[in-house]
Amino acid sequence: MAEALVQADNLVKIYKTKDLEVVALQGLDLTVERGEFMAIIGNSGSGKSTFLNMLGGLDRPSAGKLFVDGKNLFTMTEKELVTYKRSTVGFVWQNNARNLIPYLTAYENIQMPMRLNGKSGRAGRARAKMLLDMVGLTAKKNHRLSSMSGGEQQRIAIAIALANEPKVLLADEPTGSVDSKTSMYIYDLFKRLNRELGQTIIVVTHDVSLSKHVQRVAAIRDGKISSERILKEDFQERMRNTERTLEWHSEEETQEEFAIMDRAGRLQIPKDMLEKLHLKDNKVMMEMGENSIILRAPTETKVPAETKVPAETKAPADTKVPKKPAD
Ligand SMILES: Nc1ncnc2c1ncn2[C@@H]1O[C@H](COP(=O)(O)OP(=O)(O)OP(=O)(O)O)[C@@H](O)[C@H]1O
Ligand SMILES: [Mg+2]
Repeated sequence: MAEALVQADNLVKIYKTKDLEVVALQGLDLTVERGEFMAIIGNSGSGKSTFLNMLGGLDRPSAGKLFVDGKNLFTMTEKELVTYKRSTVGFVWQNNARNLIPYLTAYENIQMPMRLNGKSGRAGRARAKMLLDMVGLTAKKNHRLSSMSGGEQQRIAIAIALANEPKVLLADEPTGSVDSKTSMYIYDLFKRLNRELGQTIIVVTHDVSLSKHVQRVAAIRDGKISSERILKEDFQERMRNTERTLEWHSEEETQEEFAIMDRAGRLQIPKDMLEKLHLKDNKVMMEMGENSIILRAPTETKVPAETKVPAETKAPADTKVPKKPAD
């Protein structure tokens, strides 16, 4: 099997400040295949940007393993990291001020990263034109960025991120500062890039509506992937097709949800399920069922009166680990 493009294994990131340590990633496992278009969602502070920054080579991980396109992010020298940031990854942020040069034109801005990589000449100009066309801004080729709207600047920022043909496009809240029309445009653009150029894309977002536009959504909770939603096979083609979106279908119809067990066998159980068990001292009984593992509150645990089940049904509050999908 070909190696995955992104392989994070038990990834840990600890930020040390003067008087405290923050464990932003707590043993995160994630694999992303080449050609995937996926999203990472999660509450504020769950570690989304931290993870993307590790992938982008903007910050170094503390422990675990992290490989992107076969390159080890732990052992890379500073010099190798500079090349990695220019060639292997493309980055788009919510606020792209640091990536854009306002007094240069759209066309010049897109050529800049190629120049830095020693690619000027005809090939660079042709790619800049192709990318301008891809983001629908050929007509504004010679406009200075300072004269363009926020949404247009964001589209140019995407073209800049793609200039050096990165193996993976990383986008951290790319639609956080644009109106809903531009958001839709950007999601459609990502789909086209994925479909037509085979571009691998990882988007971090708060916007749950994005889940209608991607093949896979991984949820981060407390610095670890807790669950994933995967688009059902029947809907894959329709998702890629920008003309027909899945807006009319519920997520239950189009996606399958899996809890994610880490490589050590640990599982994050959704808070609402756990609360219903009313565990004492966090002790839980485990039982093997047919193709399932049942987690049960110990018999001495007192279920509060209002949630008591009638004696004849005697259904214990149990939580079934989802079955593996049938092959
Ligand atoms: N440079 C830093 N120094 C110290 N702590 C940090 C640093 N960057 C992030 N953190 C902490 O790490 C944790 C994860 O932060 P992160 O920015 O990855 O969250 P996020 O999921 O991107 O949140 P948001 O949705 O608000 O952008 C938070 O507790 C945050 O305060
Ligand atoms: Mg963030």
